[in-house]
Amino acid sequence: MKKPVKVAITGAAGQIAYSLIFRIASGSMLGPDQPVILQLLEVPVPEVLEKLKGTVMEIDDCAFPLVHGVEIHSDPMAGFEGTDYALLVGARPRGPGMERKDLLTANGGIFGPQGKALAAKANKDVRVLVVGNPANTNALIAATAAARGGLDPKQFHAMVRLDHNRAVSQLATKTGAHNTEIEKMIVWGNHSSTQYPDLSHCTVRGKPAKSLVDQAWIEKEFIPTVQQRGAAIIKARGLSSAASAASAAVDHMRDWVLGTNGKWVSMGVPSDGSYGIKPGVVYGYPCICKNGQYEIVQGLSIDAFSRARMDATDTELREERAAIEDLLKA
Ligand code: NAI
Repeated sequence: MKKPVKVAITGAAGQIAYSLIFRIASGSMLGPDQPVILQLLEVPVPEVLEKLKGTVMEIDDCAFPLVHGVEIHSDPMAGFEGTDYALLVGARPRGPGMERKDLLTANGGIFGPQGKALAAKANKDVRVLVVGNPANTNALIAATAAARGGLDPKQFHAMVRLDHNRAVSQLATKTGAHNTEIEKMIVWGNHSSTQYPDLSHCTVRGKPAKSLVDQAWIEKEFIPTVQQRGAAIIKARGLSSAASAASAAVDHMRDWVLGTNGKWVSMGVPSDGSYGIKPGVVYGYPCICKNGQYEIVQGLSIDAFSRARMDATDTELREERAAIEDLLKA
């Protein structure tokens, strides 16, 4: 049996975590032979911590073979001690009348200190996935704070995998294929309504997706459906997506750690100039993972339709960055 690794989850009393924790504990994320110690972080509010205790009672009641410890924390400096993998799910939701800048700033107050605490306390090879929205800019804030403490910004990702999985599912349904027969899907940019799900390089059973669907469907149905899927789920369920978000987080971290076997997955990673996206934002790119490292897929042709959409989502990310620029220097 391998040595247990420490997995930290923030927002542990929230609805995504209620799915996520149990998937991690059962081995879906790191494999059926990898024991875990769960570090569950929440806000220091008695009712919230009490609720989390209920979740811990349920974890106990599962008698998971892979769980070698469960900790409850409300201080990131204690909660990230020796962390190998961190899933930053807890975030400040938009309150009534809250402007975008206020939301970004409030989240900066969460993700800056968490980045700092990860650099101070976590394993130096820690891998961090930011799920809490606005995920890309929160990841940028955490990575920037952690870089001052010696971590590499490439250790911080933002989750666009839910958008990627939604895009795969929409195309599979349209073409009558199974999800596993769809390859080379890409979601570029921000996890927001400006994201660009791109079928230009995508294949269905090895055939170009664009030879199977027409441009009108791509523009009028596919792209808007994927972009607006979160809102559609809120309308139907009365709550935002939770189990699917947790499943996407499991997919992202599993692929990063265990590899993608040459397959492409969309990941929000620090922009490095690839495809004309200048450094300075965390941007959704097609990636391949191997030996615990990711690489952005290079050399893809970008047509004018894609270019315009990739630039629009980049512009939104630069605006988000501008709103919290002072926090990046703090
Ligand atoms: P939720 O409101 O059910 O739970 C969030 C939890 O985070 C709450 O229990 C809250 O107390 C906790 N929290 C807040 N600040 C914290 C801090 N500083 N430290 C630790 N815990 C903290 O929300 P839910 O549904 O679980 O969603 C969580 C986040 O994930 C939201 O920001 C949501 O917008 C985002 N999300 C992201 C998706 C993506 O694809 N990137 C998809 C779906 C949701």
